[in-house]
Amino acid sequence: MEHFTSIKQLGSLHEAMEAAKYVKEHPFADQELGHNRTLLMVFFNNSLRTRLSTQKAAMNLGMNVIVLDVNQGAWKLETERGVVMDGDKSEHLLEAIPVMGCYCDIIGVRSFAGLTDRERDYGEEVLNQFIRYSGKPVFSMEAATRHPLQTYADIITIEEHRTKARPKVVMTWAPHPKALPQAVPNSFAEGMEFAGYDFVIANPEGYDLPKEFTGNAVVTHDQDEALRGADFVYAKNWSVPDGPDYGKVLCRDRSWTVTAEKMALTDNAFFMHCLPVRRNMIVSDEVIEGPRSLVIPEAANRVVSAQAVLKQLLERD
Ligand code: CP
Repeated sequence: MEHFTSIKQLGSLHEAMEAAKYVKEHPFADQELGHNRTLLMVFFNNSLRTRLSTQKAAMNLGMNVIVLDVNQGAWKLETERGVVMDGDKSEHLLEAIPVMGCYCDIIGVRSFAGLTDRERDYGEEVLNQFIRYSGKPVFSMEAATRHPLQTYADIITIEEHRTKARPKVVMTWAPHPKALPQAVPNSFAEGMEFAGYDFVIANPEGYDLPKEFTGNAVVTHDQDEALRGADFVYAKNWSVPDGPDYGKVLCRDRSWTVTAEKMALTDNAFFMHCLPVRRNMIVSDEVIEGPRSLVIPEAANRVVSAQAVLKQLLERD
């Protein structure tokens, strides 16, 4: 694996789970692998889980870690080529990236979709520039269209809790006051195809995710129908994925909130969310605090997914 930008780069579900299992059982066995090697984590957007879990994973592997919050303390970066830089941005990404590459061995990048220009977002311009110009292995810490470390942790969590060979997993859209990217749901959909689960997506009309990510998933606009018989319910909000309303919020229907009544339609399903979550918008207090909520084990598995990926990048280097 040269770079890590999609769950599909892990090969197969079996290989991904073997790597995760190894890391869980031997968290400190590979300290020599990372000795005197430096991870640079570059954040264009806020983070709690990704920041802490990836740093912890790197420390478990004996690495040194540098964290750069681009919007706090660094020069403001221009990301578009060809612009006359007469505004408030002092440095271009095309110089900044190779400079960052001089100071580290591996680079993690978090860069969300801007949600105004779909072509630019789905072209993954920022992440791809890091891959092209840093000269170092690059991994996504959530980019414009995917969040593969989250998806990997989600799959590990499902594998640890499933009681059926092929569980029914339902990803349901839920309301949110702000426009959110499609990276987590796109990536989760890609991951469900990778894992081979029975996968259903429920969302309001106008919110269908791109086919390149949803693959063979069943897509319905009827949430109750989708939830019937579910073993896992994965709630997430996303903004309009394409068309003239790309990146906008067209639906605020609170009947899509995941409540105990909604969960009663399932086969005693586990509840999942990547966090951070807006309580009583996405999910009721009762469900997220309930005995079938997996949000904390899911977050804990972020260390495992990050460590398994970092280990593979170190081994390749
Ligand atoms: N789930 C997730 O990526 O959380 P953060 O945005 O806090 O990193």
